[in-house]
Amino acid sequence: MHDGWRDRVSSSGVRGVWRYAELLPVQKQHRVDIGAGGTPLVRSTELGKAVGIRNLYVKNDTVNPTYSFKDRPSSVAVSKAREFGINIVGCASTGNLASATLAHAAAAGLVGFVLMPDTVELPKVKQASIYGGNVILVDGTYDDVNRLAYLLVDRSDVGIVNVNLRPYYVEGSKTMMYEVVEHLGWRAPQHIVVPMASGALFGALHKGLRELEQFGVLESAETVFHGVQPEGCSPISTAYAAGTDEIRPVKKPETLVKSLAIGTPGDGAYALTVARTTGGTCQAVSDEETVEAIKLLSKHAGIFAEPGGAVTVAAVKKMRDEGVLDTGDEVVCCVTGAGFKVDEVVDRIVGPTHVVPAKLQSILDVLKDRPVITE
Ligand SMILES: Cc1ncc(COP(=O)(O)O)c(C=O)c1O
Repeated sequence: MHDGWRDRVSSSGVRGVWRYAELLPVQKQHRVDIGAGGTPLVRSTELGKAVGIRNLYVKNDTVNPTYSFKDRPSSVAVSKAREFGINIVGCASTGNLASATLAHAAAAGLVGFVLMPDTVELPKVKQASIYGGNVILVDGTYDDVNRLAYLLVDRSDVGIVNVNLRPYYVEGSKTMMYEVVEHLGWRAPQHIVVPMASGALFGALHKGLRELEQFGVLESAETVFHGVQPEGCSPISTAYAAGTDEIRPVKKPETLVKSLAIGTPGDGAYALTVARTTGGTCQAVSDEETVEAIKLLSKHAGIFAEPGGAVTVAAVKKMRDEGVLDTGDEVVCCVTGAGFKVDEVVDRIVGPTHVVPAKLQSILDVLKDRPVITE
């Protein structure tokens, strides 16, 4: 592959997930492309200063078509459904996959449905409801929803992107790693920090990197993988900390990081292996640390993230404080979902909005203590 492939990619003029179509298992005529992927890798000097890392990059996947990285797996899984001749596609979701699946189903002309726990944030429910599919809220946890999705697959001809189409779903996620490597000038980063719910994204990024090595695109890929979960639902990170392979289900997740609240992570064992074999770690961060990270990302990098995306910045800060990361390390932080999706958390940070009378003096009064303007 090799140089030829790199050149073909670089000169393809295609942006996003399908830029890497030769490494994706879908025939061209079935591809659904609403612009997933092709997101910026931003060198974040100011954020780096705030967390103590000189070479910090943010892979900003908040700017996908439905505002989370889930557009990547959905684009490939829904395309594959179309190739298989499946007309009804759905998913079990903690919030973000719902919109990604329904948006792709809409664009593919397929019928869409999603199952979500009724505790999902309201903006995510509203967003999912706009794409014309069927949004079903279930009185239960994500594990209940997931179990129902498996039962549904047994009883019908539907394609569920993270159940019977899961192998294709993972193929879409791996493109995030291809992009990071390409943006760095076809070089593997030293460290990568990734949010984990089921652990699928973490494993997919590792798969993507290994493929580039196997296909001779990279000579060596020594990237250290760090996964991050919220303390209130951290079955993978708890097993990592205990040095065991036994992942104990979390029956009642309690965290404001709802998009990562999966008590029984399907790819947990794989995630543990990836962290251990690459010399990485699995981290758990508190809700307070996550809220602080949302502030840091917006204030120092201009990126508005949801808690599930910001956990990685919280973990970088923690790993720096604890000496797991060194100030000179090169770190890529994956920020996977946008802040518009979680208004309760944002309200907590920004507080009430003030309105002033329409007079210049009112504006000057507000700005007087700040060096923005001089009278
Ligand atoms: C914003 C965000 N980031 C990361 C993840 C992690 O996904 P997983 O580990 O299940 O691949 C999710 C899962 O829903 C998510 O919503």
